[in-house]
Amino acid sequence: MEIKAIIFDLDGVLTDTAEYHFLAWKRLADELGIPFDRQHNEPLRGVPRRRSLELLLNGYPATEEQMQEWMARKNSYYVGLIQQMTPADILPGALELLKELRRAGIKIGIGSASKNTRTVLDRLHLMDYVAAISDGYSVQRHKPMPDLFLHCAQQLDVDPGQAIVVEDAASGVEAALAGGFWVMGLGPEERVGAAHIVFPSLEGVHLLDILSALRNTQHVSRFTHHVTIQKTGSSAKPSSIQRSSTTRKPSSPSATATWGRGGPSKRGILAPDRPR
Ligand code: BG6
Ligand code: MG
Repeated sequence: MEIKAIIFDLDGVLTDTAEYHFLAWKRLADELGIPFDRQHNEPLRGVPRRRSLELLLNGYPATEEQMQEWMARKNSYYVGLIQQMTPADILPGALELLKELRRAGIKIGIGSASKNTRTVLDRLHLMDYVAAISDGYSVQRHKPMPDLFLHCAQQLDVDPGQAIVVEDAASGVEAALAGGFWVMGLGPEERVGAAHIVFPSLEGVHLLDILSALRNTQHVSRFTHHVTIQKTGSSAKPSSIQRSSTTRKPSSPSATATWGRGGPSKRGILAPDRPR
């Protein structure tokens, strides 16, 4: 088994748009007189716009018309904030890692619930790096459901067990685990501690660091694989991805002789064939 792809969440992983989402929601909440601080914002990380609003409202009464207006208002604040973004807003280490992956022949995907994904990638000049984008328009069920990452893996033509998902949100980690991916969490343990491996950020992180950490993980899996992706759009045909229903996770990257003697083989990154 080889690791063939890495799927990155966008907001909070490649760039700090997680902060802009927070600021935009905060502005809306202030206007509505609803208490909202960074702690309230935690569960909103990674989840789509509408669900975010529901969490923010927390039972505050609203008509559908108001919901639509508030989502549009928040988005206009957010879009205003991202207008000034440039490649300088790529988080430390991210571009270096993307370049390294490209050199190593590892496919790069984006799995973000945001409908602004392409705009942000454009502003960061990252479009050329990615082979597949799954975003807020791609699937019906969002994180913590695994559909978005499975959709991306399908586009990349890789099995979830051949891919690593990089996430900064608890909901995203949960989604990737549910999909049967390897999961790398970025940030505090309290938030992403369920991931197979956790790094504070991408700064100074190289492909071999990730693979070594995964190879050493003793993480025990607790999920099953049996998922039907519900794509958006009436013409989209639901596709089914089925994996074994045993309590497995993707097979752990193995310490192969090749690695032991100085890194991955030229033909790819070797990983073990047996789940732990
Ligand atoms: C996710 C963010 O990537 O996208 C969430 O982590 C955000 O905070 C969600 O709510 C939806 O984004 P958008 O741009 O479609 O409102
Ligand atoms: Mg995120």
